[in-house]
Amino acid sequence: MLHYCLVLACLVSSFFAVLHRPSCHRQTKDRSPLGSLVKMQWATLAAAALFANNVAAQNMLRFACSQLVVERTDPLVNPGMKFTPHLHQIVGGNSFNVTMDPTNDPASLSTCTSCSFKQDKSNYWTAVMFFKHKNGSYIRVPQVGNGGPQGKLINKGGLDVYYIPSGKTTAFKKGFRMLAGNAANTDSSKVLKSAICHRCWNSPNENTFVGGAPCSGSDTVDIPNDPKCKMIRQTIIFPTCWDGKNLDSPDHQAHVAYGQGSGANGGGACPSTHPVKLPQIMYELMWNVTSFADKSMWPSDNKPFVYSMNLGGPAAHGDYVFGWEGDTLQKAMDNGCNLNKDCAKAGITAQTDSVYSACTKKQQAVEAVDGWLSAMPLGEPAIKA
Ligand SMILES: *[C@@H]1O[C@H](CO)[C@@H](O)[C@H](O)[C@H]1NC(C)=O
Ligand SMILES: *[C@@H]1O[C@H](CO)[C@@H](O)[C@H](O)[C@H]1NC(C)=O
Ligand SMILES: *[C@@H]1O[C@H](CO)[C@@H](O)[C@H](O)[C@H]1NC(C)=O
Repeated sequence: MLHYCLVLACLVSSFFAVLHRPSCHRQTKDRSPLGSLVKMQWATLAAAALFANNVAAQNMLRFACSQLVVERTDPLVNPGMKFTPHLHQIVGGNSFNVTMDPTNDPASLSTCTSCSFKQDKSNYWTAVMFFKHKNGSYIRVPQVGNGGPQGKLINKGGLDVYYIPSGKTTAFKKGFRMLAGNAANTDSSKVLKSAICHRCWNSPNENTFVGGAPCSGSDTVDIPNDPKCKMIRQTIIFPTCWDGKNLDSPDHQAHVAYGQGSGANGGGACPSTHPVKLPQIMYELMWNVTSFADKSMWPSDNKPFVYSMNLGGPAAHGDYVFGWEGDTLQKAMDNGCNLNKDCAKAGITAQTDSVYSACTKKQQAVEAVDGWLSAMPLGEPAIKA
């Protein structure tokens, strides 16, 4: 029962069935006929319910993005600033900049993207994870892709991005941006665990998955600190409901809201304040903590992993700036384009790993971010770019 194959994992189907097949195979420790029957009925009922609501949920975009740059900039929260308060990894179109005016179109300004689809010049960014040695030094935790060929990251870490439709969705408009999570939060009870979470993977093999749907079951808001973890998967699921008017808001959050439901199912019904259903964006990050298992290196608080705010899991956050060409994203959602494959109906084409991985940018806030650092790149000096 421990590794129960959760409904969503098996049903939101090609998604997890294709990507995480091992979890579905490993589901049942209890092999008794009755146990299996009960589970099957439950799964079938849930499948029917899910399907009735959401026929489109079986297809979704899922693709890898390698790192464009790792630096202290944040055109959403700290526009125009270099050496922003904390370090980010940024992926996507190379028109990313310290300032990104919403009237500028990343799709036309970018000459390449570090994400798989050539037509996707959006930017996606998150904090990075550090290992904190008890001697006071820090080192960035290496990143790998999640299991499955669609998400395999060939070069320089990065993340996997999902666009999950549920029923009819309205794609983001040019100039749209949003933020999920709160970079200053230290209270795990204030985090929507069904949207932002972590999971300990005890397999070193990136193709082997250890359980059900993201942000379910024993997933935690805090970063796991079990030396048995080989990988820590981080999931950031964005709100799926839009007010239909504002491309942004002062806190970059008020113009969007989470709908009903939870997890990676495309999101449920929207509140009347935010009636427009968006594709569900999900970031998936895999932090390879394999080489940090020796507890004799751990700090005395027993919390060896922190994000680049020098805070733990409750401060996890993700930023998004829309930048797909024309109406390609809308068409991809409407036509059931799937995974990282070319999709003629939407005019989207996947690039080879070597092509998107070659799209990089030089740091604008120049400082060391790799190897052992005597201090985390943090705080002052913020300077106007
Ligand atoms: C980035 O912004 C700087 C000024 O803030 C500007 O000089 C530069 O041309 C911009 N780069 C790109 C690629 O837009
Ligand atoms: C802390 O330990 C690491 C790993 O052994 C080492 O590379 C680093 O120089 C040490 N830092 C200090 C301040 O001693
Ligand atoms: C994770 O890190 C370990 C230790 O450095 C390494 O041996 C392993 O190949 C890495 N895993 C992946 C999938 O890169």
